[in-house]
Amino acid sequence: MSLPSAEDVHALLNAHRSIRSFRDQPIDDALIDRVLVDALHGSSSSGNLNLVSVIKTRDRERKSRLCELHFGQPMVEQAPLVLTFCADSYRTRLWLAQRGARLGFADLLSWHVASFDALILAQSAALAFESHGLGICYMGTTLHSMREIADFLECPTNCLPATSMVVGWPAEAPPQRDRLPGRAWIHDERYCKPTPADIDAHFGEREVRGWERYRALKPEMVERMAEHGIESLAQFYTSKIKYDPDLFAQDSARLEALFRERGFLV
Ligand SMILES: Cc1cc2nc3c(=O)[nH]c(=O)nc-3n(C[C@H](O)[C@H](O)[C@H](O)COP(=O)(O)O)c2cc1C
Repeated sequence: MSLPSAEDVHALLNAHRSIRSFRDQPIDDALIDRVLVDALHGSSSSGNLNLVSVIKTRDRERKSRLCELHFGQPMVEQAPLVLTFCADSYRTRLWLAQRGARLGFADLLSWHVASFDALILAQSAALAFESHGLGICYMGTTLHSMREIADFLECPTNCLPATSMVVGWPAEAPPQRDRLPGRAWIHDERYCKPTPADIDAHFGEREVRGWERYRALKPEMVERMAEHGIESLAQFYTSKIKYDPDLFAQDSARLEALFRERGFLV
């Protein structure tokens, strides 16, 4: 089998767009499993321990419940497939116990090791799905509803959802989203702190395009932004209607309790 060319990889990466609207058409089960198995083969894995589990949700009623847990984001219900990528040392700990080995992987460091494996796997799967013409969107709400999603999916101790992804045949073709320019985040030899002028230059373009995009998304958004006194993209991001720092603080405390309870913080 010949390797894809650098040009193919460049084209695949640049074709990425998060897809939030899907055709009502299932994905062949063999294709899903092939992509996932390939993705694990194509992903580095800490110690090659493969501290991951992926749970497929396709049943309509179960997707509806997951949709509620993902703050009602409609694509969770609409997409034919929802994948939940779990950081999982439960299976490995069973294996260790069964072989009379010393138990491990039940601490905060192991949560990171396992969740990195899960995220690396998720991104490999994302690229593989996209290479088949499928569209994906990550669900960051997984972190906010981790306990509820874990319980709904019957995850055991030492197994928690790290991220989720909806997958399906795209019913939209959005334009490519901008990213920060390379000079904002690629450093040479040592970290180079940005000056106020650098911040203006690095964020300038997205402050115009991002602001317009969010305001154009839903007609009621302009009203809501005005109600909250939001006058810029930066103010929007940490407002009550986007990534509210108070909600993040509350959910961080909930996560800490969950890690303690489910064997990732001893
Ligand atoms: C970890 C993670 C969580 C995300 N969570 C959500 C989400 O909950 N809802 C959503 O609509 N998009 C979500 N996204 C998609 C981002 O909004 C999207 O990647 C970003 O706006 C850039 O757009 P693009 O992927 O089309 O290039 C998430 C992306 C990542 C990486």
